[in-house]
Amino acid sequence: MTDASPTDTAPAYAGPRRILSGIQASGALHLGNYLGALKRFTQLQDSGAPCFLFVADLHAITVWQDPALLTAQTREIAAAYLASGLDPAKSVIFPQSAVRAHSELAWIFNCVARLGWLDRMTQFKEKSGKHKERSSVGLYTYPVLQAADILLYKATEVPTGEDQKQHLELTRDIAAKFNNDFGVPGFFPLPDPLTQGPAPRVMSLRDGAAKMSKSDPSDQSRINLTDDADSIVAKVRKAKTDPEPLPETIEGLDARPEAKNLVTIYAALADMTREQVLAQYGGQGFGAFKPALAELAVASMAPVTAEMRRLMADAAEIDRVLKDGAERAAEIADPVVDEVKKIVGFWRA
Ligand code: TYM
Repeated sequence: MTDASPTDTAPAYAGPRRILSGIQASGALHLGNYLGALKRFTQLQDSGAPCFLFVADLHAITVWQDPALLTAQTREIAAAYLASGLDPAKSVIFPQSAVRAHSELAWIFNCVARLGWLDRMTQFKEKSGKHKERSSVGLYTYPVLQAADILLYKATEVPTGEDQKQHLELTRDIAAKFNNDFGVPGFFPLPDPLTQGPAPRVMSLRDGAAKMSKSDPSDQSRINLTDDADSIVAKVRKAKTDPEPLPETIEGLDARPEAKNLVTIYAALADMTREQVLAQYGGQGFGAFKPALAELAVASMAPVTAEMRRLMADAAEIDRVLKDGAERAAEIADPVVDEVKKIVGFWRA
């Protein structure tokens, strides 16, 4: 093995298209997850390629998770997949930890990835904060497990929000290095990151420069998928803005991060372009735009949250989906990890 970062010049992968993504089982989902990920998954479900969508519970435990809550959190993400419109007959929905091959391939990839590559990961720096020596080792190798999640299914397309871009680049590097080091060109695909959705980076409602995030201490900064209509309306009303009316053109949003965020959210919820939103609301103040946005957010989210609540009250239905999904996922994943072990040279009877 060499320490050099490989290039993308290997022969192309010739396998079928497969779409894959995951969401961590670590607490409340918000509008950023919905617009950046869930809504996009449902749009891709009928694109002709099979979809693999999992609950990343192995990733969740890179920071402390109360064992008494983790199962419920896993079911909650599964409920969100279903409530957003994913059909378990078409998409494979499963808990990551239920398919052992994820952990097995992650170890092998830990020996392919280079320390220098991981040292560059900005999300580790953000999440570990000032006390990186107190972080779990898992938090550091987190992106390697993510590469295993993706390549285990030889996924060719990975829809995520923009914050996952660096992890997806690392996945391509690991795939290229594995193919190269073991002399198996085209064994793993170099997956395409699909981070160009209508709202790949939804920002905080309190600060247009910060990402909407479940780790933000202010609940006012985000719309949770479990919020009721009154909370959604109140949060939109209190969202930070500036005193100017909305501009007529996209360029007019450039130096106005809060206005840009609200227009982006409106456009993504309404399946409109931002130009169309500005054609309708340009010249109007937030006094007119905010109530329209709140009404749209409530109307769009209410069916999703109601269905999530219904499903959460029926653990048996969710568990059926997850069990069936885990079996179907393992049918794809197990032969791939077996082949990888053979390529690496592990003993076999
Ligand atoms: P997670 O659980 O943090 O987020 C789930 C999805 O939501 C997107 N997202 C956002 N999109 C737009 N605006 C925001 N403010 C926003 N916040 C979150 C994320 O980009 C993501 O698509 N590491 C992943 C989970 C994962 C994964 C994978 C994803 C594990 N293995 C393999 C793809 C492929 C994560 O922590 O997502």
